[in-house]
Parts: sequence; C-alpha cells; structure tokens
Amino acid sequence: MITTTGLTKVYRSRGREVTALDGVDLHVREGEVFGVVGRSGAGKSSLIRCVNLLERPTSGSVVVDGRDLTALAGRGPRAGAELRRARSRIGMVFQHFNLLSSRTVQGNVELPLEILGVPGRERARKARELLGLVGLADHARSWPARLSGGQKQRVGIARALAGDPKVLLSDEATSALDPETTRSVLDLLRDLNRQLGLTVLLITHEMDVVKTVCDSAALMRDGKVVESGTVSDLLATPGSELARELFPLGGRSRDRGGADEERTVVDVTFHGESTTRPLISRLSRTYGVDVSILGAAMDTIGGRQVGRMRIELPGRFEDNAVPIGFLREHGLTVEAAETVAEATETVKDPR
Ligand SMILES: Nc1ncnc2c1ncn2[C@@H]1O[C@H](COP(=O)(O)OP(=O)(O)O)[C@@H](O)[C@H]1O
Ligand SMILES: [Mg+2]
Repeated sequence: MITTTGLTKVYRSRGREVTALDGVDLHVREGEVFGVVGRSGAGKSSLIRCVNLLERPTSGSVVVDGRDLTALAGRGPRAGAELRRARSRIGMVFQHFNLLSSRTVQGNVELPLEILGVPGRERARKARELLGLVGLADHARSWPARLSGGQKQRVGIARALAGDPKVLLSDEATSALDPETTRSVLDLLRDLNRQLGLTVLLITHEMDVVKTVCDSAALMRDGKVVESGTVSDLLATPGSELARELFPLGGRSRDRGGADEERTVVDVTFHGESTTRPLISRLSRTYGVDVSILGAAMDTIGGRQVGRMRIELPGRFEDNAVPIGFLREHGLTVEAAETVAEATETVKDPR
C-alpha cells in the first residue's frame, strides 16, 4: 500500500546540510498497522512528511495505493490537482492535534471537506457521521478548548478521515496523552483499521504502542531503516534490536563463587505454538540439566502470545549444543545473552 524506494531527504539551510533520510526502502502492506520507532532525530517525521509529499524528497520514490506521488510532484503545476486528489486519500494525525480554536468540533472536521469542495449539507452530514465513528457524536457543537486531550485527538482523527482515506499517517499521535487515554486512542485506531480496512503508518517512540497495535514495525537510526518486518518475524530473528526493546530482559548470572564454574546464559524467544508447551521443564527432564530462569516477559501481540526468557544452564555454550538444539528444534529462538551492559538505548526521547 505504501512503498518507498531509495527515499532520501537532505535539508539545506544556511549552507549546512542535514541528511534526514538516507535511502529508505519501506513496504507497508494493505490493511496493516505499521509502526516506525527510533530515537529523536532518527528521521521518523521526515519519513512521514515525505510519504504524503508535505516534504519533497531529495531523491527516491513514494508509491501510495499504486500511485507514484513523487512522479506527480515532479510534473509541475499541471499535476498539482492530481497530486492534491491523491493526497486527500492520505489522512494525517498530529501529536499536537492542530485544531482551529475558532471553529467548533464539527467545523474542524468540515474543513478538509470545504477544501475538497463538498457542499454544505453533505459536509455537515459527513462530519457528524465521522464524529459518531470516533465516539464524539455529542460534541459536534463544542469548542476545541473545552475538550480533553484524548477528545481533541479524536477530532484530529475524524478530520483525517474526511477524505475517505485508504491510508492514515500518524506522527506521535499519543505522545501528548496519558497512558489510559493513549490506550483508548490506540484502540480507536485499531478499530478503524479493522472496520474501514484502513492502512495505518504510525510513528512512535513508545514500544508499548508497537506492542499494542502494530502488525509490523521498523527501527530507524540516522535516516536509515535498520530493521523491519512483522512483529512476530522480528521476535523470531536472532539479534533483533526491536525484539530486545519489545521484551527487555534483565537478569544477571548469579555469582556462585568458584570462578571455574562455567555457566551459559541464553535468551529464548517463544512465539506461536511454542508458548503453550512446557518446553523448559521437558528440557530439564530430558537432559537432566538444572535450568535457572533469570528473567522473563510475556505478552500478547496481535492476539498471539509471545514472550522472552533469559535462562542459565551449567557449562559453557559449546557444552550446551544439545539442549540448545532441542529448544531450537521446537521452534524457539535461542541466542547467547548480552550479559554485560545491556544495549537498551535504541528508542527513547520523544519528538
Ligand atoms: N525542516 C528542517 N530543516 C532542517 N533540518 C531538519 C528539518 N526537519 C528535520 N531536520 C533534521 O533532520 C533530522 C531528522 O529529523 P526528524 O525527521 O524530525 O526526526 P525524528 O522525527 O525521528 O525526531 C534531524 O537531524 C533534524 O534536526
Ligand atoms: Mg519527529
């Protein structure tokens, strides 16, 4: 539904150049909720602004719903109308809502319809329908200043849906909201995704958002996409930073004295059927090894149970080839744990 190829954005200001996007290839499938995470400055907002051509990419292409927007933008003013039309099928939700305080809630939702030239009656009908969809039917005549943050964002979402978009872009839509409100806005996005078949590309710095609503995710760093895939594939990928961020595992090997006592610490990821089988106890019984659990995290992602566990086995890694092979044969991902100074600095900092 959204494909970017070699997308590059270089900002030039006062003789300085900043490469915000450096050859981004992204593929968002129709009907999925796709999350982009990364630290502040990674290029997330630039990416989303280039996807709807609010920002002209320096090079590369953006194809949304089969239309090459970059080609349209390059064809001068003639293509302008066509580009505007294509863009009206892409809704956008902002962190700070960007509502007009001089208009009522309904007036705000009607605005994009006015721009599209929809006549008054039809505009009002459509706006009220959309407000019903986001649970604000009773607030049509309210002023934005009277609304809570969550309600404002619902208005922002209703407005974004005015052009019957097939794609919704969201830049940190929940970052200004408290956790409970965040949850309800995410549930709304999920519902819209399911009910309307809306494809959602959202940017966030909160891994919980990815856990709650995303089917797929990408990690950005320094203008590049360094990991991307479905959340369950990422969890099954050894060494995946996103998997580690989604399921941070603490747990250090306990010091048992005797420096010559070798131990192996591994991180095990369960997904799909393997989560419901008692594999650790079978491992212990079958091979007669004592397994210590140092840390564990379980959650439901996209309705499926997934989890990670850090376990410790006696002996060196090489000595444990057979028990580790047993776990892998049963569909678990097993990798040597990073026991020293966990790298948990990938995602952080809002904006
Ligand atoms: N309009 C702009 N002019 C110049 N530099 C910009 C502009 N917008 C963003 N940047 C720079 O591009 C890089 C990526 O920014 P941004 O896309 O906002 O990242 P993120 O949303 O991940 O925080 C940063 O170094 C930022 O300072
Ligand atoms: Mg940003």
